[in-house]
Amino acid sequence: MIDRARLSELIERERLTYKERNPRSLAAFQSARHLFGRVPMTWMNKSAGGFPLYLARAKGAHVEDIDDHDLTDFCLGDTGAMAGHSPEATVKAVQQRYAELGGATAMMPTEDSEWVGAELARRFGLPYWSFSLTATDANRWAIRLARAVTGRSKILFNNYCYHGSVDESLIVIGPDGEAMSREGNVGGPGDVTATSRVVEFNDLDGTERQLADGDVAAMLMEPALTNIGIVLPVDGYLDGVRELTRKYGTLLINDETHTFSAGPGGCTKAWHLAPDMLTIGKAIAGGIPTGAYGLSEELAQKISGRTDLDLIDVGGVGGTLAGNALSVAAMRATLEHVLTDDAFEAMARLSERFAEGVQAVIDWYELPWSISRLGARSEYRFSSPPPSNGGESNAVSDPELDDFLHVYLANREVLMTPFHNMALMCPATTQSDVDRHHQAFESAIAELVGSNLASRPVRS
Ligand SMILES: Cc1ncc(COP(=O)(O)O)c(C=O)c1O
Repeated sequence: MIDRARLSELIERERLTYKERNPRSLAAFQSARHLFGRVPMTWMNKSAGGFPLYLARAKGAHVEDIDDHDLTDFCLGDTGAMAGHSPEATVKAVQQRYAELGGATAMMPTEDSEWVGAELARRFGLPYWSFSLTATDANRWAIRLARAVTGRSKILFNNYCYHGSVDESLIVIGPDGEAMSREGNVGGPGDVTATSRVVEFNDLDGTERQLADGDVAAMLMEPALTNIGIVLPVDGYLDGVRELTRKYGTLLINDETHTFSAGPGGCTKAWHLAPDMLTIGKAIAGGIPTGAYGLSEELAQKISGRTDLDLIDVGGVGGTLAGNALSVAAMRATLEHVLTDDAFEAMARLSERFAEGVQAVIDWYELPWSISRLGARSEYRFSSPPPSNGGESNAVSDPELDDFLHVYLANREVLMTPFHNMALMCPATTQSDVDRHHQAFESAIAELVGSNLASRPVRS
């Protein structure tokens, strides 16, 4: 369907344009000699244009790069900025904490923390909360607690999940159907099958087979996969997982770091789920680093009763800056004033319009693609119907097509997440931001498949 020669030609053209449009970003990248890979973190080299755009300013749903382009930002820091960039209320709280009151990190709790715990309990239904600095750490510590209380060694994951740089999670189902280390796994501490098990999303029989040996401490999952496109659960799957995990004495951990887009209490609230633990990070402090994990009443009682566990000093759960005053103040302001119930409603409505517009283009050009949506986020994928599990979704990956769309859109001042074709709405995103994407997206497709853009009667 896609003419690969035409695709390569277009990518080359767009990369040239990108280079010409962004001379200051290119110069900054080329002169960065003291950064490993020339970037502050190696994943920033994931850039369809060949080098990253450097950030000058950001506000709401827009970022400005150092070549003075104003880009509509649908990446939103891959969810870290789902509250929008520098929302007023969070800015004020951070300024007040850091500049006026003083004390970003002091090894002392602040009164804001109970407010945040209570709000997370209201939203997600789990009564007790601890804070970390990242979602990765929230997951690591949740896993440690799960192993401690169950006395079991293994963690079960969905194929092609992503939960941060958690060693145990770097496991996939190999071509022979057996579990293996994920391709490119950097310095894993040992054979990942010794610590982990893996099963396809939406596969209850497979889940039961993985749980049946009784060695699985916890299943750590996203209620919908979001890191290999969006893969939604089929009816009965999540209830089935809950039943099976209970049947086999395995704890269920919902990672809502991305699925928080589904609503103020993520999928857990929206779909009436009842995990034993819930982990989250990224957006909840308006971009200020934080993470959190919640515990059910029953689990909290069990852990508290274990006097042999060192939860205070060097037992393996905690970080010096976790729960610091600045992150907690930012969480309070973001949850109280920015990512409110009303804000989520508006974000979801706009995201629906985004998905409808993309679907209209897909239909008009008769592309075998699909778009899936989870509240405020949607993502297009190069298959129709959409994949029903991680393995299927991975199989339809097309990095060249991703690169083309990303660089084409960036040249028209629309920013997508480098690792996805994901578009996220924040409270400040507008219909004209969505229109800007649709125009550029349709023009990319028209050039790629050689249709006459002007002939489509109604644009969405
Ligand atoms: C579902 C999920 N959990 C956890 C993480 C890790 O977040 P962080 O890198 O901020 O620790 C990610 C990152 O993309 C994620 O998508």
